[in-house]
Amino acid sequence: MNFLNLKWKLYSNIGTSSIIYKAQDRFDFYIKKVYRKNIPDIYFEMESKALEILKGKPHFTKNCFIDKQNKTIYMDYLGKTLSKTNCPRNWKEQINEILDILQDINLYISDIQRNNICILGNKINIIDFGIVCFNSFNKEQIKSCLTFVFENQLYD
Ligand SMILES: Nc1ncnc2c1ncn2[C@@H]1O[C@H](COP(=O)(O)OP(=O)(O)O)[C@@H](O)[C@H]1O
Ligand SMILES: [Mg+2]
Repeated sequence: MNFLNLKWKLYSNIGTSSIIYKAQDRFDFYIKKVYRKNIPDIYFEMESKALEILKGKPHFTKNCFIDKQNKTIYMDYLGKTLSKTNCPRNWKEQINEILDILQDINLYISDIQRNNICILGNKINIIDFGIVCFNSFNKEQIKSCLTFVFENQLYD
């Protein structure tokens, strides 16, 4: 996948840490996340390292290309933000799959919130790994955060 040749269009400029662009290549969509200059390097470095481990696993991006010099991460488009209308019926099952993957690689993700959960088709995808802890997986904590987000969006 040659991300650099794609025609990038602004997708979201409201995040505090990054500017997001989207591009299309035939039937596939991609995202480019450019970290803002003022954001400490550690966030970009943590996300890069986490994605190297996570990429290709179910519920995470398949493709990932890191441009260190420009603090930019290229990845797959993973869907629209979780909402009442797109929440998959089997979200509990999918959360368990996600927990198994995180347990396998012993990764703790700290920034669990609706904006960091994407839905594509009926699949839950997790994004945004600027705040993670390596070798610190905690099943009960992550499970309660994910469950809270999913139960809450059902009623808002
Ligand atoms: N791979 C992706 N697929 C779909 N939407 C994305 C993707 N990456 C980012 N976004 C969108 O851009 C927003 C900001 O991206 P995010 O990685 O959460 O950056 P920030 O660290 O600024 O919160 C997300 O809330 C989501 O709406
Ligand atoms: Mg985010």
